[in-house]
Amino acid sequence: MRGRTPSMRAFAPISATASASRLADAVVDASRRREAAGLHRRCRDERTEAYRVMHGVAESIPGVTVDKYGSTLFVQSWRSPVERGELLELCDAVRANAIDGIGAIDRVWFHPRSTNALRWNDDDPRSSIPAEAMQSPAWVGVYDLAAETYDGLRPSRAGKSLDDDALGFVFEELGVKYRFVPPRRFGDPSLFLDFRATRRWIHRRIRSMTESHADVDGDVGGDVDGGVAMVRMDTKRREVSVLNAFAYTCGAGVVAKRAGADVVLNTDHSQTYLSTGDQNAQLNGLEPCESLCLDFYPAMRGMAGLSAPGRRVRSGGRGGRGGRGGRGGRGGRGGGRGRGRGSEKVDDAALPPSIEPATFDMVVLDPPTLTKTKFGAVDIENDYQSLAKPSALCVKPGGVLVATNHSAKVELDDWLEVVSRCAAKAGREVLSVETIAPDGSDDDDFPALDDGRRPLKVAAFTLG
Ligand SMILES: C[S@@+](CC[C@H](N)C(=O)[O-])C[C@H]1O[C@@H](n2cnc3c(N)ncnc32)[C@H](O)[C@@H]1O
Repeated sequence: MRGRTPSMRAFAPISATASASRLADAVVDASRRREAAGLHRRCRDERTEAYRVMHGVAESIPGVTVDKYGSTLFVQSWRSPVERGELLELCDAVRANAIDGIGAIDRVWFHPRSTNALRWNDDDPRSSIPAEAMQSPAWVGVYDLAAETYDGLRPSRAGKSLDDDALGFVFEELGVKYRFVPPRRFGDPSLFLDFRATRRWIHRRIRSMTESHADVDGDVGGDVDGGVAMVRMDTKRREVSVLNAFAYTCGAGVVAKRAGADVVLNTDHSQTYLSTGDQNAQLNGLEPCESLCLDFYPAMRGMAGLSAPGRRVRSGGRGGRGGRGGRGGRGGRGGGRGRGRGSEKVDDAALPPSIEPATFDMVVLDPPTLTKTKFGAVDIENDYQSLAKPSALCVKPGGVLVATNHSAKVELDDWLEVVSRCAAKAGREVLSVETIAPDGSDDDDFPALDDGRRPLKVAAFTLG
């Protein structure tokens, strides 16, 4: 590892290889770039202590990432194991303060994202670990840098016990507190860090909506230390409402609520994630958000006044709902879905409760790449329309749809076109489209790929 002082190697590696310092080198280099770009200063100013420290695909180690969550360095590997020597070099680099701008770090956590990241060669000492221990591979875990247990050999907490709630902690991003929930085996961490620019954008937009909805006597509080400020409510102004679809741990919803949104509805099919979202709201002293634990299609199609998935659409569909009588009557797509499912015909008893139509000033649509449930497939590469249509219909006139697509296979312009065309076909005029990206190099901890592209695409569509 470059720049390492001799005293840093406190513990001799058992199986150091030529590549042992690869990870620590990449982290040291990446942190230098972030320091030079002003990212660390900006994070301090904005009260952000969670960001990507090393983005492997663009910073020399594809398949490996290093994130900072509070005082934890969180190392993830998707394709291949991170060697023990590499992890120890990284621990040593932290202990020697060799990583620019990283601040206080008291643990390094290695989290594999696939079985491939757990495999090793026969000559690797891990292969002689007893079968029982192999189920909790010894290098996977939490290395407490200050603890007695840090002996250069093993993490202090290893393998399967890593989803122990007691390992959780609280960190801040943009002045908002979040719980770091120990991830499940191969699972995602509890806050997606590449969404920071979008969370900041949502905060600003909700603030400006609450201001523009305020009476002349309106009373909206100011920023606190550059972070995302709590806003005082004015009872006279018009309500601002937000629907957060695929809410996960409700990061976008919590930011919206904190920015002053009166009504925030988080929806997801996982109650576990929604409950974490409730805890996040509570951590910030906010009233609980509303939540709807249901599959996307019945939830969003219901609110959009479209036919529920799996139901046959009779002539006239579900017309007569509120002011949108005609839409259900068209029935085309909803009916098509219902009929197309044929033998998958949904049993009425399994149908979700009927959902009342509702519209919101802002709808956040941040879907996963691909999931299949009995209600249909979420497929951002091949069928974004099924996601965009009900979402657009849930936006109030003049409101905004904040949509994402994080597939590297989808080009930004093609995706913008798909969403715009879909909204227009659903009868919603697209008044403007704004792409949401990092503010500048001092905000860019997910550098673009060599060809300048970014897998995560986010855009705000203002709809008439
Ligand atoms: C990419 S995460 C969303 C991230 C989130 N928007 C955020 O800001 O952190 C995907 C979420 O979609 C949920 N999900 C996946 N398929 C679903 C479906 N068919 N209906 C409802 N939720 C679904 C998962 O439970 C997970 O919470």
